[in-house]
Amino acid sequence: MSKKDQVPLYEALTAWKAQKPLSYHVPGHKNGTVFSSYKRADHLYKDLLKIDATELPGLDDLHHAEGPIKEAEQLTAELYGSIETHFLVGGSTTGNLAMLMAVCSEGDVVLVQKNCHKSVLNGLRLAKAQPVFLTPFIDEASQVATGVSVDLIERALSRYSNIKAVVLTNPNYYGMTMDLRPMINYAHQHGVAVLVDEAHGAHFISERFFPESALKQGADVVVQSAHKTLPAMTMGAYLHLGNVEYKSAINDYLQVFQSSSPSYPIMASLDLARHYLSSLTEQQLGHILEEIRQFKKQLSEVPGINVIGDVSRAYHQLDPLKITVQLAGASGYELAKKLENEGIFVELSDPLNVLLVCPMAINEEIYIRTIQAFKKIALHRNEDNFHEFLYELNHEDMTFPAYSFEKLETMKTKRVKLTEATGMIAARGLIPYPPGIPVVLPGERIPMEKVKRLESILLSGGHIQGIHDEMIEIAIEEE
Ligand SMILES: Cc1ncc(COP(=O)(O)O)c(C=O)c1O
Repeated sequence: MSKKDQVPLYEALTAWKAQKPLSYHVPGHKNGTVFSSYKRADHLYKDLLKIDATELPGLDDLHHAEGPIKEAEQLTAELYGSIETHFLVGGSTTGNLAMLMAVCSEGDVVLVQKNCHKSVLNGLRLAKAQPVFLTPFIDEASQVATGVSVDLIERALSRYSNIKAVVLTNPNYYGMTMDLRPMINYAHQHGVAVLVDEAHGAHFISERFFPESALKQGADVVVQSAHKTLPAMTMGAYLHLGNVEYKSAINDYLQVFQSSSPSYPIMASLDLARHYLSSLTEQQLGHILEEIRQFKKQLSEVPGINVIGDVSRAYHQLDPLKITVQLAGASGYELAKKLENEGIFVELSDPLNVLLVCPMAINEEIYIRTIQAFKKIALHRNEDNFHEFLYELNHEDMTFPAYSFEKLETMKTKRVKLTEATGMIAARGLIPYPPGIPVVLPGERIPMEKVKRLESILLSGGHIQGIHDEMIEIAIEEE
């Protein structure tokens, strides 16, 4: 059997299960024999609970891996070309926290692509780093923030002397990628680490089919949510090490942030997802992507439907698994609702777009059904519907919040109406979810245009973390 055909953790789990073991250990469901029968929940969970094991002999220990978990991680490292890969059971969130804590110390200046996930902000907060936010490009057609330019990184590096790291998010949620190599090379020439949140790029294994992974482009640490685009269980993610300098600190912080009882079904699904990915032949991948291309073409031919194209001045490449779609006369939220009525659930919607994440598998049937649904929806569109949407304006290319995370923690707070918050200091991030990318950062003085933008997101049906009953929490400044 070739190495890539091995699935060591899954094999170990199934071999253990085959013994029909008696359980006098945790978890309390005792290999699925004790469980609620409410609406046949026990039946639904039964098979999975049989492999919901714990650190038993032969099953290794995530925090001190030297058996099948280690082997599974090594096979994953070989596939992606990392020095070391760690399985994560708390999503990319855990990986981002560990990566930032491992590389950044108190007071370090860190350049951060502004359209980052909130877990990056939380990591910076815990590390007590001083972020300088780099403003990304905005793609004109979708009004989505993409990535930053190498020129901006060069200017930031020449302006600040004590920069520890650059934190990039690539691809963005919509699969739009930047050419990272020149950025990484430039940062490395200046002794600065490059940390990449590649949550949406776990499938970037072959440049023939997908954008090149950050790891191959030389990044120091890369985090990927395997569960987002690969067939892995929710919360399953990988952390890849590209620079041995951070090995020990990463190991250390993963022990801080990961559960001491990590889920075996999740870990084994990471082993299986790697196996699935490495087993796909070039011919199969070609077929899968050709089918998606055809689907995309058919979608773009439906009158009233606009599909965001592969070419834009705001990004380098587009992930072929992602399709961003608009319906004339409707907000993205409305289009998502109409699709739900047809039994189709999308990854996310925003004021203009819905985002479809296509499967890494041949699936003609779902595409036929989806095209039919889009045709039906588009037939009943009302293009006269006027949608006022406030576009994101980028005035400055580098910004800091008015107050640091530490200072913010010492400030008193109160709740005010969003409509009255102009000029005040946000105590928490104001984050449309999904995608989880803050519009207002914690500690930021809230400009009027952002209040209006948040209002327009709420009005068009969006959900924003940090806003409850139209109220937000602000930090009170001293007179
Ligand atoms: C860019 C980005 N980074 C990190 C995360 C967090 O990933 P996870 O849900 O795997 O914790 C997300 C989640 O949506 C994300 O979009």
